[in-house]
Amino acid sequence: MSNNIIKIFDTTLRDGEQSPGCSMTIDEKIKFAKQLDKLGVDIIEAGFAAASPGDFEAISKISKVVKNSTVCSLARAIKNDIKQAGEAIKDAKHKRIHTFIATSPIHMEHKLKMSPKEVIKRAVEAVQYARTFVDDVEFSLEDAGRSEMGFLKEIISAVIEAGAKTINIPDTVGYTMPWEFGNQIKELVEFVRGKAIISVHCHNDLGLATANSIQAVKNGARQVECTINGIGERAGNAALEEVAMIISTRKDIFSEIKTNINKKEIYKTSRLLTSITGIEPQPNKAIVGKNAFAHESGIHQDGVLKHRDTYEIIKAEDIGIEKNNSIVLGKHSGRHAFGDKLKQLGYELNDED
Ligand code: KIV
Ligand code: ZN
Repeated sequence: MSNNIIKIFDTTLRDGEQSPGCSMTIDEKIKFAKQLDKLGVDIIEAGFAAASPGDFEAISKISKVVKNSTVCSLARAIKNDIKQAGEAIKDAKHKRIHTFIATSPIHMEHKLKMSPKEVIKRAVEAVQYARTFVDDVEFSLEDAGRSEMGFLKEIISAVIEAGAKTINIPDTVGYTMPWEFGNQIKELVEFVRGKAIISVHCHNDLGLATANSIQAVKNGARQVECTINGIGERAGNAALEEVAMIISTRKDIFSEIKTNINKKEIYKTSRLLTSITGIEPQPNKAIVGKNAFAHESGIHQDGVLKHRDTYEIIKAEDIGIEKNNSIVLGKHSGRHAFGDKLKQLGYELNDED
């Protein structure tokens, strides 16, 4: 695997489903997983097998139908969780177990009530046991954003030694600033020296999930965990469509770096999720919001008419929007000033009033 590929790990069916109002039936999950496979995501986190019999069934059915993506189940660092994960993904062509434990002082003391030494022991046992089911084991250090660097290094060395191939650094509570997170990732990438892939998993509590993920990529992370439309626990996760389109749009910055995402499937995947959950992305949501490609101001319409690149850094068709209905004739438009010309250029005009 080239070091220039950023693996996209989609967790819409696991962390995304933890959004209030985003529960899906087993059939809906299967349909969505097939679309994620078409979108080209490298890993589909299909659920948390031990969470419920329904989760287990969804993961095992998804494992049978997904053709290219790796299918993954989450598991706490607990034997029974790992066993259920291993059994749920057994029929997948490519399979991964993702196990985790919290590493921040606040989580270890108040939630786990475990000493750092006990946490390391449990992590190592979890990875060793997961390796009895699959070769591909990911280990996450929950709340890594608020964990101490010395302890992160200690536990990372131990789980790599135990057989983890991907080390995920979550900013579980969306607390870190991009420069802090970037520095943390740089130090950890240098520390693991290619013995494992460093992954990131950023939450959006301060609106920084995408910025933090991108900063991590600039500092050597080679897997990004994200969700369609940015859904997820509380304020959500980094949005897959934003991460993928930033990397593809800013080739001047990410020259050699690529994802395997098939951009033309982005819009369709976003719409499928909305049709399943009934939850629309906010209208001004980057990339997939209803207004993401809409021009209302007359000055902007004039610019687009003269040269599309004046106000469009991404073309709607790049993400698979077939009908470009991006021109809104409203009170800021100089009313119908450019209507005929815009129609000739293929824009579908939307009269606001
Ligand atoms: O936010 C988080 O820390 C998680 C882990 C389970 C990866 O979702
Ligand atoms: Zn999460």
